[in-house]
Amino acid sequence: MIVAENLVKDFRVHERRPGLLGSLGTLFSREHRLVRAVSGVSFEIPAGAKVAYIGANGAGKSTTVKMLTGIMTPTSGRALVAGLEPYRERRRNAANIGVVFGQRSQLWWDLPVLDSFRILRSIHDVPDTVYRRNMALYRELLDLDALGNTPVRQLSLGQRMRAEVAASLVHDPKVVFLDEPTVGLDLVLKEAVRELVNRVNAELGTTVLLTSHDMGDIGAICDRVLVVDRGEVVHSSSVHELLRTADTRAVLFEHEGDPAAPADAIALIEAKLDGASASVVEGGRIRVEYPAGRWTSRQVMGLLLDHFDVTDCVVPEPDLESVLRRIYTGGRHPAPRPEAVG
Ligand SMILES: Nc1ncnc2c1ncn2[C@@H]1O[C@H](COP(=O)(O)OP(=O)(O)OP(=O)(O)O)[C@@H](O)[C@H]1O
Ligand SMILES: [Mg+2]
Repeated sequence: MIVAENLVKDFRVHERRPGLLGSLGTLFSREHRLVRAVSGVSFEIPAGAKVAYIGANGAGKSTTVKMLTGIMTPTSGRALVAGLEPYRERRRNAANIGVVFGQRSQLWWDLPVLDSFRILRSIHDVPDTVYRRNMALYRELLDLDALGNTPVRQLSLGQRMRAEVAASLVHDPKVVFLDEPTVGLDLVLKEAVRELVNRVNAELGTTVLLTSHDMGDIGAICDRVLVVDRGEVVHSSSVHELLRTADTRAVLFEHEGDPAAPADAIALIEAKLDGASASVVEGGRIRVEYPAGRWTSRQVMGLLLDHFDVTDCVVPEPDLESVLRRIYTGGRHPAPRPEAVG
């Protein structure tokens, strides 16, 4: 459904000399240099898949999405979305796709939200039955009616993002591109957005490409991940495998012991598990963080069970930063392993 073949995007940026004269100079000078934002990205995403496209800030994610949605033309290489080259056939492509840029609105700023939906309905020629079904779903999951008559400019970020995500889907696109769709949302709204995307994917087979810095989004929505670093895809796997590549893992546990003496427990853990750090967290539980390359979770659990009368135990998901750090430092760019974060 989505094909990227050696996509490259260079930006021409003007060199600025320091100081005011320098700034004035850049108005006239023709000096510039090229910044390669995307350097030869290739991948293929089958119809109906839900793929996370992740990487650090500036890795080239949004630029890739802009080429796939037809907003930007690649410097070289080729993209195909539902059989069309998006930047060559922008109008036909628009019927096939939905887009959300969390950082930028696609709605009509001065119009009430419901008017935006009416306009989109006529732009895309959405049949009555489809429109009614979709609006009912958005009412149910996103409480859209509460926003209906307010101009977009007066909405809070959370309210606007709800409307943005719904608006991207109203014409039943084959593919939806979600570039940080939950940025700035509270947990309840994040979950509503995740549920909407999953429902639409399950019921209509909509292909999803998601970029997010939120591991919760990725875990809740996607089955596969592509990791980009400096404009190149450096890792491709299932979400499950990705989580296993975190460089630091954690275990939280409670035990029948002297709650007044956690220092002894911490000292014991740190002495037995090289590179690990332990601390007391809320509720009196002990959090153990350990380098994933050094210890397996089985070894860590075994040690805890051997030395403590464990009454409860939780293994939280690793955060995205820990996962990316491992991928970035592990594969292509050999670098000393970072210390376990304490
Ligand atoms: N219009 C532009 N002109 C010049 N440079 C640009 C332009 N757009 C992006 N870049 C540069 O291209 C690189 C990739 O930017 P991009 O926005 O694609 O990153 P990203 O992965 O989406 O990052 P983030 O996670 O912060 O959204 C960055 O170095 C950025 O400064
Ligand atoms: Mg971006």
